[in-house]
Amino acid sequence: MPLPPQIIPLESPLKGVALWRVELDSIDLAEARSALSPDEWQRTLRFAFDIHRNRFAAARFALRRVIGESLGCAPDALRISVGPHGKPYLPAATHCHFNVSHSDGVGLIALSRSGPVGVDIEIVNEVRDLSTVSPGFMSPSELALWKSLCATDREQAFYLCWTRKEAVLKASGLGLHHDPCTVHVGLADSDVSTTIECEGTSATFRVRTLEAGRARYVAVASQALET
Ligand SMILES: CC(C)(COP(=O)(O)OP(=O)(O)OC[C@H]1O[C@@H](n2cnc3c(N)ncnc32)[C@H](O)[C@@H]1OP(=O)(O)O)[C@@H](O)C(=O)NCCC(=O)NCCS
Repeated sequence: MPLPPQIIPLESPLKGVALWRVELDSIDLAEARSALSPDEWQRTLRFAFDIHRNRFAAARFALRRVIGESLGCAPDALRISVGPHGKPYLPAATHCHFNVSHSDGVGLIALSRSGPVGVDIEIVNEVRDLSTVSPGFMSPSELALWKSLCATDREQAFYLCWTRKEAVLKASGLGLHHDPCTVHVGLADSDVSTTIECEGTSATFRVRTLEAGRARYVAVASQALET
């Protein structure tokens, strides 16, 4: 069955990684809810607001449709577990790597068979005091460069850095359990490789920024596995 029109394929800047943008608020909710597992259904009940409940259900439905199509199985037949730091994965198909991000009604899904992937999407609707947040996630050299920028360039550099860093940390599965200040991704829209050291092991990730409709800041990262 073809994917619904709200699940839109994107051109991927990383080889081996397929990407989709999802218009979460346009997904058929009755159909979405019928595809959720009992655990996912329980999770929807814990959201205080309908909008968050519905977007979570829509994102999980879209994820199940994309993976189901890739693996040739029914969306509601997939068993999705979570890793030690919360990254969802498929115990029965560990070669099928995926990741999800959502922001303000737009979802992003990445799928890869060549190694772990991570994505992050940020739609910025509010003005924030970025100078109080940046020291908490930028590396010392990123922070020094960021402070040297003029005020108008700072917002773009901030969100480029933030989404790229989250994409890398999500690809690693560590998420924000790992100190983002120790990960260097830079402030520009360039093709960067970065290495994360964690508990005696190291892993290298490629990260890229891309366009995705109204979402201005979107990043995807994938782990370069040895073959
Ligand atoms: C994972 C994390 C980086 C997500 O960041 P976010 O910008 O809030 O949310 P996003 O929309 O980009 O991503 C959410 C999705 O990431 C996935 N995810 C969750 N944990 C993950 C992890 N450790 N690694 C990769 N992906 C993860 C899930 O699919 C989740 O979607 P779901 O809740 O619908 O299942 C962040 O929430 C995290 O690391 N949390 C754990 C640590 C923590 O809570 N720290 C807070 C104090 S610093």
